[in-house]
Amino acid sequence: DKGDFEHFMLKEIYEQPKTIEETFRGRLKPEYSEIVLGGLLNVFPRIMEAERIVIVGCGTSWHAALIGEYMLEEYARVPVEVEYASEFRYRKPVLTEKDAVIFISQSGETADTMAALHLAKEKGALVLGICNVVGSSLSRETDAGVYTHAGVEIGVASTKAFTAQVTVLTMFALKLAKAKGNIGEEEYQELVKELSQIPEKGKQVLENNEAIKQVAEKYKDAVNALYLGRGYLFPVALEGALKLKEISYIHAEGYAAGEMKHGPIALVDDNLPVVVVAPHDAYYEKIVSNIQEVKARKGNVIAIVTEGDKGLKEMANDVIEIPKSHPALAPLLAVLPLQLLAYHIALLRGCNVDQPRNLAKSVTVE
Ligand code: F6R
Repeated sequence: DKGDFEHFMLKEIYEQPKTIEETFRGRLKPEYSEIVLGGLLNVFPRIMEAERIVIVGCGTSWHAALIGEYMLEEYARVPVEVEYASEFRYRKPVLTEKDAVIFISQSGETADTMAALHLAKEKGALVLGICNVVGSSLSRETDAGVYTHAGVEIGVASTKAFTAQVTVLTMFALKLAKAKGNIGEEEYQELVKELSQIPEKGKQVLENNEAIKQVAEKYKDAVNALYLGRGYLFPVALEGALKLKEISYIHAEGYAAGEMKHGPIALVDDNLPVVVVAPHDAYYEKIVSNIQEVKARKGNVIAIVTEGDKGLKEMANDVIEIPKSHPALAPLLAVLPLQLLAYHIALLRGCNVDQPRNLAKSVTVE
């Protein structure tokens, strides 16, 4: 049931403040400064001993994995590798009992992800799942796991499942970081507290819907689009580009902003919208100079900025604000306007946003 919404995708975008909260409810306990992931209890000693964590997924789930990699390496200080399931399963990866492999899948039925899971299991690795569909193949065949509590996702383009996956990965990274003694108590507390505030801040982002719709009007006829971000926001740039291409059929590419000079800058002209995820963080100065480079070549910059940012308001063609947050949690906020932008552009182009051509919700064949 779509309720008051015109499409499932829009409904699911709007559900995110609630679904993120559902995903951490009962698990994130700021008052006890403890994160409880019941599903991992029995295997936690093995996770602690793992020499490496590998995260495997496809599409949007793979983007969530990249954010998990950044968090796990920064805070838990464990080496992490992220793999496309379709590559991992065929490329003879080195795997041992000392590896913990996390499989991320909304549906829990993706053929490549399941095949990768069987391979990792065969090699004796600890296999864990982050999955949305209760009782799915993935949830049955992993040693242990954590459910995302996003609820049923009907729109083919994944939205609320993504933010729920990132929420689980955040809790997992913080729990492991604390257990390993690799994060200071103060920073840990701050992150836990900030995560608990994301739903409220997410609601504020969604209030910009009208402004985002106006930006969509301006760029709806674009043929190509570029998305740039750095650090935790690089995977968000990839995800923004994927959302746009899959539902509006505009060719879009996501790039780490620092890579721009190594190729994609050649694309920039006065026809190219460049979406830059540029909140106030340690990379701010770097990303501002990337924006200047795009502007110097007459590209149109749509900047996602931290509330109150003045500099970029003058520099960018369009600005969409998100509330201030811890840099590691910014993906949960920054992805929301990108989902809405893709939604409105697709709608204005007359596309079927809930059921884009050639795509299936659950990819059960490779
Ligand atoms: C993108 C999208 C796909 C899925 C991918 C993996 O919006 O929905 O890229 O993320 O097919 O699906 P799951 O997570 O079910 O394994």
